[in-house]
Amino acid sequence: MSELNKIALKILSNGKGILAADESNGTMTKRLEAVNVESTPKNRLAFRETLFSSESMKDCIGGVILYDETINQISSLGKSIPELISASGAVPGIKVDTGAKNLANSPEEKITEGLDGLRERLKKYYELGARFTKWRGVYSISNNYPSKLAIHSNAHALARYAALVQECGMVPIVEPEVLMDGDHSADECLEKTSEVIKNCFEELILNKTDLSGIILKPNMILAGSNSKNKISNEEVSDKTLECLKNSVPTEVPGIAFLSGGQSEIEATENLNLINMNNSTNFIMTYSYGRALQQSALKFWSKDTTKITETQHVFNHRARMCTLAAQGKWSSDLENK
Ligand code: G3H
Repeated sequence: MSELNKIALKILSNGKGILAADESNGTMTKRLEAVNVESTPKNRLAFRETLFSSESMKDCIGGVILYDETINQISSLGKSIPELISASGAVPGIKVDTGAKNLANSPEEKITEGLDGLRERLKKYYELGARFTKWRGVYSISNNYPSKLAIHSNAHALARYAALVQECGMVPIVEPEVLMDGDHSADECLEKTSEVIKNCFEELILNKTDLSGIILKPNMILAGSNSKNKISNEEVSDKTLECLKNSVPTEVPGIAFLSGGQSEIEATENLNLINMNNSTNFIMTYSYGRALQQSALKFWSKDTTKITETQHVFNHRARMCTLAAQGKWSSDLENK
């Protein structure tokens, strides 16, 4: 078993999942302003530290994805943020892409940037305690998109990123996110997501990455958010499993889904069904941002001194997601 495979399994095993707390300052500002909290470095740290010091970090959270600002911050008790996370048994991770920009010659589509100087930045993050990383490519669905150009360019960048990360002794999360925005059907999402993921693995293999030392972070297969033809949770689970079975090489140890705009309950229920029906050897867990933090943020914003109570809200969500990652969740547990 390679060192990278060991790290991946430490993050994903036993129903553990990933807390995606890597919102850029721009995105975090939107999230905080939406609940009337001023977005300052101090407030961003206060909310995140509240989550990272929660009880459920020990049993539910295998890894936390940080943003550059946070990995460099010191917690109120004097530990660095990576030390605080490691003390709970979770693995600190870091988002290393520098964002999605307009793709030349297809400006309605995006290409994720951040390869320049990446090797040096990775060394710095390793020294700060990170042992895994994240890079997100985004694709939208419409009549003409995603184009072959967007699929190919993002897969190429994801694979070059992943190879550099492994060279530095860290596990890359490879995140090709096919967005939920639009009125496409679930079958279109299935077709496009499969094409995108297959392309990513072609490039990952071409770049000689160790597939046993990566984590795939895909979207679930859903109808577009404006589609009139929504599908049932059972169908989401069936189509998601069909997609992954046919597109992901068996060496990959685990898949950690993004929530992508699903509500907390929807993301939990879908993950639960995926695990109940999972006939693959892949671990199927969560790497949620909004679907883990939404309720906690809303509660905290009303009175930011209520740290323990905010942690209860977060603990509940993390425990529900961890049950779902084992196929053991049911809706009646939500109210207990
Ligand atoms: O890159 C996306 C985040 O890591 C996951 O966020 O679960 O809110 O989609 P989300």
